[in-house]
Amino acid sequence: MLGCKNILLGITGGIAAYKTTFLVRLLIKAGANVKVVLTDSASSFVSPLTLATLSKNPVLSSFVDADKDSVDWNNHVELGLWADYMIVAPATANTLSKMASGACDNLLLATYLSAKCKVFFAPAMDLDMYKHPSTKISFDKLKSFGNVIIPASSGELASGLHGEGRMAEPEDIVEFVINHIRTGLPLANKKVLITAGPTYEAIDPVRFIGNHSSGLMGFELAKAAENLGAEVVLVSGPTNLSVSNHQIQVKKVVSADEMYNAVHSFYKDVDIVICAAAVADYKPKTKADQKIKKSDAELTIELVKNKDILLSLGAQKKNQFLVGFALETENEVENAKGKLKRKHLDAIVLNSLNDKGAGFGKATNKITFIDKNSSIKTFELKTKAAVALDILNEIISRIHA
Ligand code: CTP
Repeated sequence: MLGCKNILLGITGGIAAYKTTFLVRLLIKAGANVKVVLTDSASSFVSPLTLATLSKNPVLSSFVDADKDSVDWNNHVELGLWADYMIVAPATANTLSKMASGACDNLLLATYLSAKCKVFFAPAMDLDMYKHPSTKISFDKLKSFGNVIIPASSGELASGLHGEGRMAEPEDIVEFVINHIRTGLPLANKKVLITAGPTYEAIDPVRFIGNHSSGLMGFELAKAAENLGAEVVLVSGPTNLSVSNHQIQVKKVVSADEMYNAVHSFYKDVDIVICAAAVADYKPKTKADQKIKKSDAELTIELVKNKDILLSLGAQKKNQFLVGFALETENEVENAKGKLKRKHLDAIVLNSLNDKGAGFGKATNKITFIDKNSSIKTFELKTKAAVALDILNEIISRIHA
């Protein structure tokens, strides 16, 4: 969720400022680019050098860098526009009040006024200050401007008193921000089930029937769906791919029967299903218990049809938005439409083997998206990551219609 996002961390002068070194670490670990703006009083509580080292960016605290020969202006407008998100932590009563009233007598305040992004405040102060009516007015005003307050927690305060006013822990700040971002995304609160990769149908303990599917299209769909806020289950046949994102639940399977069982165990709880797997249509009628020895000049393996997973999902469909793939070589659109109808799909993604760069084992794909109302949209050749986003945007526009 925070991968490659620009996060501006504003640190103000409270004892909780010492915890922001951990906050910077966590944001960097989550993949964010972090820049830090410190108020003068904050630098008494936390070292700019530590923050600069952790954030891998210079730490700024004044409009001009006074210790340089040439005067360098720290452009608060550029900083504000650079940020995808701004976090003010700890946010003292003083800074909250100034930001609520639009004062801008330091770099952080001016940057806040210039920022167009969502701003999160993690307040930290003593319990009476936290409860004071003027602080409450600051919170209400800041919220009315579209900012978000991360509630302070209760516990022992720097004053020795116990009560509300402790800055949320760095882990909780990061989790809060991620959850907040997620709820604003188009697939928030949606569960998406995706199938990917080939299936292997065992002939004996060491041999199988399979295909060349790399699984890339399904994996890119899973990543894109997660980035759009969905909870994702990825049921994948054997591939060399992996997901680094722990938000994606990966269920590894080998055969079509295993994929069938896994998919059906998740099916009733999901909102969207995309079957991108290249499921083997046939499997050996029996699997030999021992490795088959070569003997005769010819060997015949009797095959039986695998269950069509997508067909079975269509037959049991309730409210799920169901999408299949079709790989065609002739009469592409007509054949794909036929599959869409036969399998009771909401949409089908057509790959034509006549298109260069489309289909199996490629980093790119060229698709035509066809829905159940016969609306047809053809896309250019793109990377599979970009194709995944196109497919999901088509689905989103239909489920939100
Ligand atoms: N599919 C499935 N289970 C199977 C076979 C296919 O879920 N046993 C799904 C695939 O994941 C894909 C779609 O069905 O979404 C492909 O449909 P299919 O009828 O198999 O089309 P093709 O593989 O293109 O095969 P054919 O043209 O031979 O019918």
